[in-house]
Amino acid sequence: MIVSICLLVFFGCGLNFAQPGDESYVSKTEFDALKEKLENLETKLRDTEIRQINSDSQIAELKNQEKLQAIETRLQDSETRLNNSENQIMDLRKKERTKVMFSAAAGGRGAIGPFKTDTTLIYRAVITNIGGAYSPSTGIFTAPVAGVYYFTLFHHTGKPYGTVLYLYKNNQQVIMTQNHKAVHETAHNGGNAVFLQLQPGDQVYVRMTANSFIWGGNYHTTFSGFLVSQV
Ligand SMILES: *[C@@H]1O[C@H](CO)[C@@H](O)[C@H](O)[C@H]1NC(C)=O
Repeated sequence: MIVSICLLVFFGCGLNFAQPGDESYVSKTEFDALKEKLENLETKLRDTEIRQINSDSQIAELKNQEKLQAIETRLQDSETRLNNSENQIMDLRKKERTKVMFSAAAGGRGAIGPFKTDTTLIYRAVITNIGGAYSPSTGIFTAPVAGVYYFTLFHHTGKPYGTVLYLYKNNQQVIMTQNHKAVHETAHNGGNAVFLQLQPGDQVYVRMTANSFIWGGNYHTTFSGFLVSQV
């Protein structure tokens, strides 16, 4: 009974298939070939899909890399600007901290000079020497930093000699103060001042010409200077 049902089903189904000779008949060989083609196509499709996915993710990765690079560039720019700002702040602080000021008087009890040759005046009585740029042993001021400095020189003198003082920048005479020799005059004061733009190491000092003299006592005769502004 079971066997006959199975046979019926088998033949029943078989009746629905095309038979050899029918137009729509597909032989086993052709079927296998078609199946293989289909499988190949499926494989290709899957490959294409995989490649598409790979491309998509590569594009996304590239875009991320571009974004990352842009961010990195901006970060570097910021860092550079930050460094510049920090350096500027440090420079400004350093400039602010650099204080240079001195005042010194000729010292002694009375006349200094006259001498037979031009002589660098050594103002030995230091009143102020912030930054230590003035040397009371040589009378020479040496600029520690580039900038504009202001110098003054005052002298007290009297008969019977004249007085000629020159303020020097390195080997160059810049300004002078003078008192003419006069027999009947009593004491005089004279002075002068100048703004000088100096480089580090430039030297400023006062020289008294031959046969001049100044009065050293009582702080009459002074040499002063200070850094106005770094340039
Ligand atoms: C900024 O300064 C730091 C510390 O001095 C340094 O390591 C860094 O390379 C500097 N960056 C740039 C972009 O100059």
